[in-house]
Amino acid sequence: MTRVAVAGAAGRMGQAVCAAVEAADGLELAGRADPALGTPLPDVLGGCDVVVDFTRPDTALDNARTVLAAGRHVVIGTTGFDLEALREAADGSQANAFVAPNFAIGAVLMMRFAAEASRHMAAAEIIEYHHAAKLDAPSGTAKRTAELMEGDVPIHSVRLQGLVADQDVILGDVAQTLTLRHVTTDRTSFMPGVILAVRRVADLPDRLTVGLDRLLWPDG
Ligand SMILES: NC(=O)c1ccc[n+]([C@@H]2O[C@H](COP(=O)([O-])OP(=O)(O)OC[C@H]3O[C@@H](n4cnc5c(N)ncnc54)[C@H](O)[C@@H]3O)[C@@H](O)[C@H]2O)c1
Repeated sequence: MTRVAVAGAAGRMGQAVCAAVEAADGLELAGRADPALGTPLPDVLGGCDVVVDFTRPDTALDNARTVLAAGRHVVIGTTGFDLEALREAADGSQANAFVAPNFAIGAVLMMRFAAEASRHMAAAEIIEYHHAAKLDAPSGTAKRTAELMEGDVPIHSVRLQGLVADQDVILGDVAQTLTLRHVTTDRTSFMPGVILAVRRVADLPDRLTVGLDRLLWPDG
């Protein structure tokens, strides 16, 4: 049994992760850390092997440092924090960190197809759509998509009640456009990716691994 604690357990994603861990074979929910539950992260570290963090852009890095310093592996879904600082923390640690800006398989495929299409079309723009309570803009997914694509790709951010997490990548060329669209209807869309990362994080070859694509296509 792999013992999993969740940081941000009272949040929208954290609650879904707790339910997914409880339903997964070979995983045991070992702790729910969240100031909203009165349980600080250090209180759950003793009884777990892996921590999953879905918290806030201003807390994820400190949480990861705390987890890694305790020799536990960390899977991070929180977006909008400094990845280079995490790399430093992971390099000096005895445990692994895995970060993905998007745990939905469809979003990872969208990013891969967008990168390929950008090599063949003249220009592209990204529109990302999220629920109104999302703290960071542009989204981690949109920034990562733009990084993987050729050329300068402008990003437009929509924050509206009623949305979960969607993205359009629109590519343009002479007399034509191509639109790649990923739509999520529910936060369960992210759970197979989170569970895969929890199962694999301990055996990853690098101290820090970024992107679900690294688990789906380990050879590139
Ligand atoms: N990678 C992905 O696939 C993906 C998908 C959806 C959301 N996200 C990201 O996940 C994060 C969380 O999103 P959400 O909608 O669940 O937010 P949320 O506001 O609903 O939940 C965040 C929770 O974290 C708790 N928290 C705050 N500080 C904490 C700390 N120091 N330790 C432990 N818990 C703490 C809060 O009390 C809250 O319950 C955001 O950064 C969002 O962008 C990522």
